[in-house]
Amino acid sequence: VIRVVVVGTGTDVGKTHVGVALLEALGRHGVDAVGLKPVESGAGGAGWVGDGERLAEASLFHVKQAPYRLPHPLSPHLAAELVGARIRLATIVTWAARHIAAVQLVETAGGLLSPLTPRRTNLDLLRALLPARVLLVAPDRLGVLHDVAAASFALRARVPRARPVVALSAPQTPDSSTDRNARELLRLRRAHRVVCFPRAATDDVATRTAADALVAALGLAPRPRLAFTAPASSRRRPGPTHAG
Ligand SMILES: Nc1ncnc2c1ncn2[C@@H]1O[C@H](COP(=O)(O)OP(=O)(O)OP(=O)(O)O)[C@@H](O)[C@H]1O
Ligand SMILES: [Mg+2]
Repeated sequence: VIRVVVVGTGTDVGKTHVGVALLEALGRHGVDAVGLKPVESGAGGAGWVGDGERLAEASLFHVKQAPYRLPHPLSPHLAAELVGARIRLATIVTWAARHIAAVQLVETAGGLLSPLTPRRTNLDLLRALLPARVLLVAPDRLGVLHDVAAASFALRARVPRARPVVALSAPQTPDSSTDRNARELLRLRRAHRVVCFPRAATDDVATRTAADALVAALGLAPRPRLAFTAPASSRRRPGPTHAG
C-alpha cells in the first residue's frame, strides 16, 4: 500500500476536491485506490454526503465506517469532546490499515495544525500514519506563499524527510496572484513540485489533466508495461523482407 496523506493549509481549501480528482485519475490509470476520511466533524445524519462519502464513491474499494464522525461543525478536538469522545491516533492507524489498496489516500480534517485532541494535531496523525507521500493542498490565492511556507516548515520540523507535493486549487473568485503562485512557490523554493487545479468539476477535462499531472508528480503512475516479447521459438527468423 502506498499511503498518501492529504493535508491542507486550512479548512475548505480543496482537499476533498483534489483527492476525488486524484482517485478518479488513478482509476483511469488502472491503479486500485481507496480514499479515507477518518475524522469528520459537522457530519450529518442519513443521506448526508460528507467527505468520507465523496472519497468512498471515487474509490475502487469498500470503505468501512469511519471511526470519528462527529456531528458538531467544530474543530475535531471540540467536536469529540462534545460527544464525550476522545480521538485516538492509534484507532485511526488501525482503521486505515484495514483498507488494503495499491494507493491509499487519507484526508485529514481541517489544516495541518488543526487539533485532534488538546495535545495532538493532524501533524501528529500524519507522523503516526507513516505516509509514503504527503500532498499539501492550498488555495491559489493571495497569502498562499506564506501558508505553504508555514505548513512546510512545520511539517519538516517533525518529519525532516518529507517532501510534500503541493496542489493549488483555484478559488471561486480569482485574485491578482492566482495563476502566479505556482511559479513563485517554485522560484522561492517553497515547494519542489506544484500542480494547479482549475475551478472546475472533478470530471472536467482540465481537472483530469491536472489530476494526471498530480499522479505523475506523486510518482503514483504505474510503470509502463514491458513490451511483449515473443518466446524465442516463435520469433521470426531473419529472412527475406516483404519488399521482395
Ligand atoms: N478547484 C476547484 N474547482 C471547483 N470547486 C472546488 C475547487 N476546489 C474546491 N472546490 C469546492 O470548494 C468547496 C471546498 O472544497 P473541499 O471540500 O474540497 O475543501 P476541503 O479542504 O476538503 O474542506 P474540509 O476542510 O472541510 O475537508 C467544495 O464545495 C469544493 O467542491
Ligand atoms: Mg474535505
